[in-house]
Amino acid sequence: MDFKFNKVAVIGSGTMGSGIALVLAKAGIKVTLNDLKDEYLEKGMEQIDKFLNGSIKREKMTEDEAHQIKDRISLNTDLIDSTKDTQLVIEAIIEEFEAKKRLFIKLDEICQKDVIFATNTSAISISDLANATKRQDLFIGLHFFNPPMLMKLVEVIKGEKTNDETIGRINDFCEKLDKTPVISNETPGFIVNRLLWVFLNESYKLIESQVAKKEDIDTAVKLGLNHPMGPFELSDYIGLDIMLEIGEYITNQDGDQYKPSSLLKNLVKQGKLGRKSGEGFYQYSK
Ligand SMILES: NC(=O)c1ccc[n+]([C@@H]2O[C@H](COP(=O)([O-])OP(=O)(O)OC[C@H]3O[C@@H](n4cnc5c(N)ncnc54)[C@H](O)[C@@H]3O)[C@@H](O)[C@H]2O)c1
Repeated sequence: MDFKFNKVAVIGSGTMGSGIALVLAKAGIKVTLNDLKDEYLEKGMEQIDKFLNGSIKREKMTEDEAHQIKDRISLNTDLIDSTKDTQLVIEAIIEEFEAKKRLFIKLDEICQKDVIFATNTSAISISDLANATKRQDLFIGLHFFNPPMLMKLVEVIKGEKTNDETIGRINDFCEKLDKTPVISNETPGFIVNRLLWVFLNESYKLIESQVAKKEDIDTAVKLGLNHPMGPFELSDYIGLDIMLEIGEYITNQDGDQYKPSSLLKNLVKQGKLGRKSGEGFYQYSK
């Protein structure tokens, strides 16, 4: 059996999928990026171009290197074509259990039996998703951070039945990508989002109860805890809808002490999702 991943399919070409495809292509791996419509794929490719052009401008890579990286990425809306001859499929579609489950059922039907399935979910149970397939031993969480090109950490999450060989192969793969993998058993939110949710939700509650202004809390966290971003800047950067989904998921699994603040829910209801919508806790010029 070939233990290397020469060709990988990334499903979902949004913020994370396009970034993950770029990380892989930069490491010399052929990638097929899949999404539901051509226009979504084009949007993903715009993100990739933006990063590559910026890197050329800052003299981090040559035009020739950028071309070679782009040449390794192909775009496809057909799931069968996208996964042909791949050894690994990385799912990075919307954070909805039913949507991911439907996708994995389909993938399980069309992919060879030895293909590893990885999910970039932020919080959903790896085992629950694995149970939609007949390859629970080859199913794993592979949680990149945003933006994938710049963030060094990848959480590798074991499902109940993920086998040691799969963990080893994915761990080696992360190192090949020049990332630092950490291995975790599954728990709602895994390591980082579990801690992050408690921290961010507590920050929202501080402004709700008028303890301090958001600007002051951001300053306090940056200077007092040495964080590069304050909790409100970070929330806007991640996306408030994503944070709400993570918080609701952890609450559903582990109880009301994790319940999202009403402030966050109201902002999401108003479509204030952070940087991507132009407004969240702060306003952004597009
Ligand atoms: N944004 C973050 O900071 C972040 C960080 C780590 C992990 N994640 C996780 O990564 C995943 C993707 O998040 P994102 O921020 O990139 O979302 P996004 O909304 O930017 O992109 C999701 C993409 O998936 C596509 N899609 C939806 N259903 C599909 C299907 N059945 N087949 C193919 N494509 C489909 C959508 O068209 C869209 O382009 C989620 O599970 C999220 O929780 C997000």
